Amino acid sequence: LHSRLAIETPAVAAASAPAKAASLHILYGTQTGNAERVAMDAAAIARSLGLAPEVAGLDDIGMDELAAMQRLIVVTSTYGEGEMPDNAQLFWEALSAAAAPRLEGLRFGVLALGDTGYDGFCQAGKLIDMRLEQLGATRILARRDCDIDYEDPAAAWVGEALPLAAATADSDGIAVVAQPLAAAAPAREASGWNRKTPYPARLAVNRRLSGSASAKEIRHYEFDLGDSGLTYEAGDALGVMPVNDPALVHLLLSRLSADPQALVGDVPLEALLTTKVEISTPSRDLIAEVERRAGNEELTHVLRNGDKEALDAFLWGKDICDLLALAPEGASSATEFAALLKPLQHRAYSISSSPHAASGSVHLTIASVRYHADGRDRGGVCSTFLADRVAQDGTAGIFVSQNKSFRLPADNDAPVIMVGPGTGIAPFRAFLQERRTRGAKGRNWLFFGDQHRASDFIYEDELAEMSRDGLLTRLDLAFSRDQQEKIYVQTRMRENGKALYAWLEDGASFYVCGDASRMARDVDSALADIIATHGGMTADRATDYIAGLKREKRYLRDVY
Ligand code: 2AM
Repeated sequence: LHSRLAIETPAVAAASAPAKAASLHILYGTQTGNAERVAMDAAAIARSLGLAPEVAGLDDIGMDELAAMQRLIVVTSTYGEGEMPDNAQLFWEALSAAAAPRLEGLRFGVLALGDTGYDGFCQAGKLIDMRLEQLGATRILARRDCDIDYEDPAAAWVGEALPLAAATADSDGIAVVAQPLAAAAPAREASGWNRKTPYPARLAVNRRLSGSASAKEIRHYEFDLGDSGLTYEAGDALGVMPVNDPALVHLLLSRLSADPQALVGDVPLEALLTTKVEISTPSRDLIAEVERRAGNEELTHVLRNGDKEALDAFLWGKDICDLLALAPEGASSATEFAALLKPLQHRAYSISSSPHAASGSVHLTIASVRYHADGRDRGGVCSTFLADRVAQDGTAGIFVSQNKSFRLPADNDAPVIMVGPGTGIAPFRAFLQERRTRGAKGRNWLFFGDQHRASDFIYEDELAEMSRDGLLTRLDLAFSRDQQEKIYVQTRMRENGKALYAWLEDGASFYVCGDASRMARDVDSALADIIATHGGMTADRATDYIAGLKREKRYLRDVY
């Protein structure tokens, strides 16, 4: 077959009959928008190579369409512990089914984004890659699995894959032509501020929202965007670069008996530990190294057995200092130790303002993570950085992380249902502000809750005003610990199931933000029950109904 293929050069093409540009599909599976961004950048480069790229979310593609494709690039992240991202689940269900079509005509490549800190590293990409091959498709290029610092390896892979795709003839043997255009630069964040170069934004407001009696410390932050040129939309997230706690840095230095000024590369150790590496959560490399040196029976046992639960239980609440305490003192040099640490990462938070309401600033709503264990106060790296260590009018490095799949409906008349207990309210405060400035007539329904009304009803005044002036059509509250039995947001959903189903039938979009493992999971099953009960459907048909909502982008989640 291959001998029949003639890949024409552009010069030959110009002389022969006009050939159509080679089609290329770029499909992404994304949870927070990174894979989508990589896909968009790849499309810009593909265009410059003379390909005709079409970009879509994995769930937007049916199996018939897939079977008709010639060239395919999949960029997918993995969500949680090895799961498909939300917008790839329907695709994966169909692709992994016995009834999936044969794909002999397809040439493909998979770029997987992931985080080695989680189990099931790049699992979504690995599964799709394997399944496409099983179905008879041919790889253009071997899959690449990228860790959290994905930008450079992803760009390198795309740079390799696209010319190969361009040089691949259609499966029917008809030569296609890739016509290089003037090189188009990939679409970049317009302001130029990004993960690698965050904007030093002034922290103008840092205020406690939850009452002093609350078990939680939830804070409201406002950053000035100044002349940064940063723009965002309701639904986007904000990346914040933390600086480590100097107290923890000093404790670590003393555990290591290390000279703070010792150079690691060209950076003094103390500076490195403060701004460059993660010093709280131990990396896998560090755990393995400590085990090698420590002779701690329990750790050796759980690591050797590969028992994930036992390892998690052993590591629970332990930070790097705790682990080092297990190893003989002075066992590793500063340089050796530093090599075991992962680069310090930004933390992403759902933005809680609409740019049209909070002009020139961006708001966040964050619970400070604090606890006491083994005689030491401990805290979340970024949440305590913001709460305690950015002085009033001090700055923190920020950038906007677009989340194009978590958006209000374009139709301002469409109803919206939002489930956001605790800090999960953040993007919905932004949505409500946005709907107000748009003058959107569509109805808005918010489910909110937390432990106690008296101390945890954050943004109560704002929500009351939104209720008064009619913006918030319905507000249902679930305070779990104000009575004997637990009342959760999904309790309120079930109580109001009939109305909720009627809203869905009227075209409502259903949004969830907050805790993924318990709340969002339970909200999902409550939704299925409500649809079955009030729609008079079997469980199977309710599942289809929910799949339909997802396909229409009317069931959207921002969960973590
Ligand atoms: P609880 O801690 O009293 O059980 C924010 O953390 C709120 O979410 C709290 O009121 C908490 O209740 C509640 N919550 C805990 N588990 C939940 C679940 N599975 N579904 C919904 N809400 C939950």
